[in-house]
Amino acid sequence: MPFYVTTPIYYVNAAPHLGHAYTTIAADVMARHHRQRGEEVFFLTGTDEHGEPVADAAHALGIEPQELADRNAARFRALPPQLGATNDFFIRTTDPQHEACVQEVLSRVRDNGYVYEGTYEGWYCPRCADFKADSEIDEGNRCPIHHIVLTREREDNYFFRLSAFQQPLERLYAEREDFVAPRGRYNEALSFIRSGLRDVPLTRHKLTWGVPVPWDHEHVFYVWFDALLNYYSALSYARPGEDLTDLMWPASYHLIGKDILRFHAVYWPALLMAAGIELPEHVFVHGFLLMEGEKMSKSLGNVLDPFEVIDRYGSDALRFYLLRDVPFGQDGSVSTASFELRYESELANELGNLASRTIGMLNRYRGGEVLGAEIDPSLAEDFYLLPEQVAAHIDRAELTAALEQVWLRVRRLNRYVEEQAPWRIAKEPERAQELDRVLGTLAEGLRTVTVLLWPYLPASAERLLDALGAPDLSLAGAGLQTGRVRRVSAIESLFPKDSPADGS
Ligand code: MSP
Repeated sequence: MPFYVTTPIYYVNAAPHLGHAYTTIAADVMARHHRQRGEEVFFLTGTDEHGEPVADAAHALGIEPQELADRNAARFRALPPQLGATNDFFIRTTDPQHEACVQEVLSRVRDNGYVYEGTYEGWYCPRCADFKADSEIDEGNRCPIHHIVLTREREDNYFFRLSAFQQPLERLYAEREDFVAPRGRYNEALSFIRSGLRDVPLTRHKLTWGVPVPWDHEHVFYVWFDALLNYYSALSYARPGEDLTDLMWPASYHLIGKDILRFHAVYWPALLMAAGIELPEHVFVHGFLLMEGEKMSKSLGNVLDPFEVIDRYGSDALRFYLLRDVPFGQDGSVSTASFELRYESELANELGNLASRTIGMLNRYRGGEVLGAEIDPSLAEDFYLLPEQVAAHIDRAELTAALEQVWLRVRRLNRYVEEQAPWRIAKEPERAQELDRVLGTLAEGLRTVTVLLWPYLPASAERLLDALGAPDLSLAGAGLQTGRVRRVSAIESLFPKDSPADGS
């Protein structure tokens, strides 16, 4: 079974920040987990380069939009490797192949009778690149997201006949209750649909920075339709000489932030229906990372810099913190203080200590050899069906819940150390077999939690599995006694408390 996961494509009007890192990390956890299952995975991210947000930002800097796009796309392209994220392709909406695909698909939408000429008049937010209904506007005609005063637009456009998809979309939501998750977001999208869909502009007349409309060169496509199509277009040219569309489409998961729900949960399926293209399987909507209660974004100027965290603690720590501290799918506050607390109390004290104690005792008492193959049944029972539980959560994009399941077992292993007190058993030579069983159980337990933690903590998990001499990452090998540790080697502290930056 192929698995195809996407992030939103990021606007190049500003540099990457923690909000962007968040979705990319989440998508990477899903991609890695599905690779552990032996599935063929395609993980897409990239940049959204057209439209007003980019044109305006370039204008403010006195440069051409393409120059700003090139400059910032390079920074977004560098982001996944910095996060330990393993995207298979990086799409830019200025790629000529993407532009050609946009023109082809949207011409088909027109040929199918869903495009007409009209005049748009209403409120518009240039930062959202979005037209606002009267009911969505804050006091003083302000954008509810960016808090800026909206502009009144009157423009001749081509319209997309969104209203024609009212019933088909209601049917979609009735038939596929897992099309949008979490449930609250499904309800939100459905009530938007039920409130009555109005046709929306498909093109912009006043703007030149966009994909030209093939049937009218005075227009460019409205940036959202151009952008949404990235998920589809990328497959046709991501792998040179190969078209992955048949293999990978429809997408398994689009991961998005809650601010772009309507585009993905309403416009996108309607557009695909209009073009006669199969719909994605799931849209999962995560919440906002908040700082001091406000959405974190460059334009609001309250950014916690992911690069500083990575420089000091490494990308694993950032990945773990974001998916552990903020339940995936909900809003949550982030701060340096709560990051440091999680790092120290969980990564260093729980996982780090479990690893160093287990490996340390095996080296001390058994010269690094794991002699016991028998697993203590009292512990085995607490690990029963763990890989299946983790997989079931990740199937629903419940990334925090999946991590919690594994973490409960990390804690269980630490309790096992305390209960068994191997250092006491080691003092009584006649209990050698018991010591072998305890140490063997610990080694095998540690191996399995590490395999399951790999999507979240890839670099640390690989180091640890290397020290355990058990490099197999497959999910099939993540159950107790589906693999085996035979000999351990020494390992340096996985999560040093005094980070190198402090010590130097
Ligand atoms: N270009 C559009 C997406 C087009 S997808 C076809 C866009 N870009 S964006 O750069 O503004 O935002 C991309 C994603 O980052 C959105 O899903 C947004 O929710 C997410 N985040 C931006 N700030 C965020 C937080 N503070 N917290 C979590 N994610 C947020 O929208």
